[in-house]
Amino acid sequence: MATAQTIGKEIEKLREEIRRHEELYYVKDDPEISDAEYDQLLERLKKLEEEQPQLITPDSPTQRVGGRPAEGFPEVVHRRPMLSLDNSYSIEELRAFDQRCQKLAEGRALEYVAELKIDGVSISLHYDNQILARGVTRGDGRIGEEVTQNVRTIRSVPLRLRTNGESVSKELEVRGEVFIPRSVFEKTNADREEQGEPRFANPRNAAAGTLRQLDSRIVATRKLDLFAYDLIAGERKPFATHWEALNWLERAGFRVNPHRELCRSIEEVIEFCNRMETQRDDLNYEIDGLVVKVNSTALQDEFGATQKAPRWAAAYKYPARQATTKVLDITVQVGRTGALTPVANLEPVLLAGTTVSRATLHNADEIKRLGVRIGDWVLIEKGGEVIPKVLKVIESQRTGDEKRFRMPKKCPVCGGEILKVEGEVVARCVAADCAAQLMGRLLHFASRRAMRIEGLGESLVDQMVEKKMVRDAGDLYQLTLEEIAGLERMAKKSAENLLAQIEASKSRDLSNLIYALGIRHVGDRTAAILARHFGSLEALSEASETALDDIPEIGLTVAQSVRGWFDDAGNVDLCRRLQTAGVRTKIEQTENTVLDERFGGKQFVLTGTLPGYSRDEVRAMIESRGGRVTSSVSKKTDYVIAGDEAGSKLDKAISLGVTVLDEAGFRGMLG
Ligand code: IVH
Repeated sequence: MATAQTIGKEIEKLREEIRRHEELYYVKDDPEISDAEYDQLLERLKKLEEEQPQLITPDSPTQRVGGRPAEGFPEVVHRRPMLSLDNSYSIEELRAFDQRCQKLAEGRALEYVAELKIDGVSISLHYDNQILARGVTRGDGRIGEEVTQNVRTIRSVPLRLRTNGESVSKELEVRGEVFIPRSVFEKTNADREEQGEPRFANPRNAAAGTLRQLDSRIVATRKLDLFAYDLIAGERKPFATHWEALNWLERAGFRVNPHRELCRSIEEVIEFCNRMETQRDDLNYEIDGLVVKVNSTALQDEFGATQKAPRWAAAYKYPARQATTKVLDITVQVGRTGALTPVANLEPVLLAGTTVSRATLHNADEIKRLGVRIGDWVLIEKGGEVIPKVLKVIESQRTGDEKRFRMPKKCPVCGGEILKVEGEVVARCVAADCAAQLMGRLLHFASRRAMRIEGLGESLVDQMVEKKMVRDAGDLYQLTLEEIAGLERMAKKSAENLLAQIEASKSRDLSNLIYALGIRHVGDRTAAILARHFGSLEALSEASETALDDIPEIGLTVAQSVRGWFDDAGNVDLCRRLQTAGVRTKIEQTENTVLDERFGGKQFVLTGTLPGYSRDEVRAMIESRGGRVTSSVSKKTDYVIAGDEAGSKLDKAISLGVTVLDEAGFRGMLG
């Protein structure tokens, strides 16, 4: 019999282990175990704590999720007000900030720390004896709201500080920016739209709205993240420089943004500014500029603050990436799920270095909200999402000739019925034989992360659908050389190539096939999980909703969607015909995590580009064979795959003695 004491010991050990994995995953981006293995550890801990509830502590990793809905949020007065920042909008203003600081420094040497200005919401975290005690929003700067339960769901917020043997103040306050990663933002909005809820206008609103959610279980699903940027002990700053404080925060277990620089002059700050502006689109979070801070905390104290903002810091805001242009037309696209998306066709305009001629209008509600008409002049912005969006109509430019737009009553492609579920914002064409949906499904089936049928692009699929040569993906495998060669702009040679591509696609991995089927809510990662779990399309098709829901990484929405898809007779027929055509529907040895020793459990880092593959493809090939792709090189990295223009990761790999593969080497490893 396990005594309370031995259980207590196991609980402590588990907590330590989980904390270490959380940090590896959320802070270092360098996990050692799979999500499923992590969940198992957490489950075990939960079970033990249920047996011995008196041993539950507020810093236990189990306390991050699933709290009861709070009744509003209590107010907390900030010990030190959370000030805002003076904004500079030009390099001249930045230089003027430097001039003011130089004057205040009276000849003493000045250093600056330049950081990214993350577009999220600020939070103050209180640690009492190294344990997270409270999380407080900025509020009006003087009084904020206590959202501790929600903050606990953010995996990059340590519930306990790591002190590495150093002595630290009993009361510490860490300030930082809570944000929603770009990828999560897009997914959150897509989900909200599907559920009939309004979209968040930008990642900042999404983060703010989420943080103030009363039910922390919802917060937990939204995957908020945090970058720490300030450390206060009681009322003072514990380090001589801000730079040291940032490095300490990192050691204590926080994520601190890696794009930071210690600058010895304002010119160095400006250089950093310009460099980061070009990298802005590559970040997985929104930034709206840069923050420059005086490095010395003694000088910070000396410079002090105005009512509103400190004199020792300034924000440099990047120019908004906006432009005005005219709406030439509004057209409606039909996606593979039948969803109708209105799109504004714009007079081409230059925006942040690219020519933009289209902006999404999302749905009918959004058109109504904006009041946009055909012929209107509009303000557009390139923000957190890939396609620019319309911000507002410039009503003063209206001539009276603008035309109101109405969503079509029938599908603009097939003339079929349109269904708008009560409470949902998206209208869908529900015709089973809609050509647009079929086209979307076929293009998805042939896409790179799915069955990768190269050469099967829009114009060919369009013709095949038009000529009724294919009714579903299964028909692709029945196409003959003559049929393909008969299509427009198809020479015999290219027809042969396409046929060879279709043939080759039969031996794609099961995970690719599952993804290719286009089941709602099943992205490529979910597909890989399902493939690994079930091992064959047949087993997956027979899985009950409960069996699906029982898989740790699979939620109820996915479970229902998958079951529903296989309950459709047409889909069952499609699977049967794919199998008869010789498409691989079972997991093969190379796909098996355990059997493929070259990949199983190995960690890969990608850097540079491989001419023959996209980054997503390389990732998929590694993951489907049981390998893991992480973003930074460490001693634990097994292979670095270095393509053209490989960056500093290659240098690091060489210095650590990690095996480096080029494209040929990688191909060799794939066999
Ligand atoms: S320092 C007094 N550093 O910007 C110092 N703020 O406009 C103020 N922000 O409320 C904060 N990234 O929410 C600082 N690296 C960063 C930041 C940052 C984003 C936000 C923060 C603040 C607002 C001020």
